[in-house]
Amino acid sequence: MILLTGATGNVGFEIARILDQQGVTAKALVRSPAAAEKLAGFSHIIPVEGDLDDAASVAAALEGVETAFLLTRSSERAEAQQLGFVTAAKAAGIRHIVKFSQVHADAASPVRFLRYHAAVEAAIKASGLSYTFLRANLFMQELLAFGETIRQQGNIFAPVGDGAVSLVDVRDLAAVAVAALTQPGHDGKSYDLTGPEALTHDEIARQIGTVLGREVGYVDIAPEQMRQVLRDYHFPDWQADGVIEDYAHYARGEAAGISGDIEKVTGRKARSLGVFLGDYADRLRG
Ligand SMILES: NC(=O)c1ccc[n+]([C@@H]2O[C@H](COP(=O)([O-])OP(=O)(O)OC[C@H]3O[C@@H](n4cnc5c(N)ncnc54)[C@H](OP(=O)(O)O)[C@@H]3O)[C@@H](O)[C@H]2O)c1
Repeated sequence: MILLTGATGNVGFEIARILDQQGVTAKALVRSPAAAEKLAGFSHIIPVEGDLDDAASVAAALEGVETAFLLTRSSERAEAQQLGFVTAAKAAGIRHIVKFSQVHADAASPVRFLRYHAAVEAAIKASGLSYTFLRANLFMQELLAFGETIRQQGNIFAPVGDGAVSLVDVRDLAAVAVAALTQPGHDGKSYDLTGPEALTHDEIARQIGTVLGREVGYVDIAPEQMRQVLRDYHFPDWQADGVIEDYAHYARGEAAGISGDIEKVTGRKARSLGVFLGDYADRLRG
């Protein structure tokens, strides 16, 4: 039996969708009946109520589980929640953890998200559990958040200068996760999951403009301006500061590497930004 965490979120929902389509049964840890309702359209995904901050509920959800998918939101609680899950998984005697991580996870990184992912990866290795680490780059689906400013001002705004990023489609991330959860050959592997090209935000804006049939520009903003926007959207300070650190990392060109791991695992080329934009143009138009 597989247990999914984060199944109502961006990546987890897509994993649940593919597993369901393949007829693979999996349990999904959900926090509430309302969250379970989001998975109601799937006949092979079984919601089990629990909370990563509630050890007893995690232990109960892990009963009878062989393989687990571990993902949380990058909140201040993320590291503790994930370390708690690893301890519970070990105690429950599961075989394999597929941990969702970020490319360049590193205990010495100036980016807090990269530090917590590295700490959890180290704990999984130390636990002796079999593992697969999925180290993702910036999600293409994050560009959908620019929809409003594109519609109102014809611009996208970010503190990233001319740093290029090999951003990746969540659908490809989910396909790799499903392979690691259901097929042999992924034990002890760490995959860098990037798109097929590294693009600056100027290039991204131009591609969005081409698909939408209007001019779209990129405006380089100061980190402080982005912090204010994130506060306006009620991001907690810890998380907002983490996003700023992430963008500084992109601006330094540190997330521009291109990996072939998506194709290696799935047998299909990673989706380009052009393909993503074609599929999501209506969402960007609003
Ligand atoms: N965004 C990017 O560009 C990017 C790039 C690389 C790596 N990553 C990594 O991707 C991960 C985030 O993925 P995502 O965007 O799919 O996340 P997401 O959409 O924010 O989903 C988070 C999931 O976690 C669940 N959750 C939150 N708190 C919980 C709790 N206490 N107990 C149980 N479940 C809980 C949520 O359930 P509810 O529905 O109940 O809230 C939801 O299903 C992070 O680890 C981040 O570092 C992101």
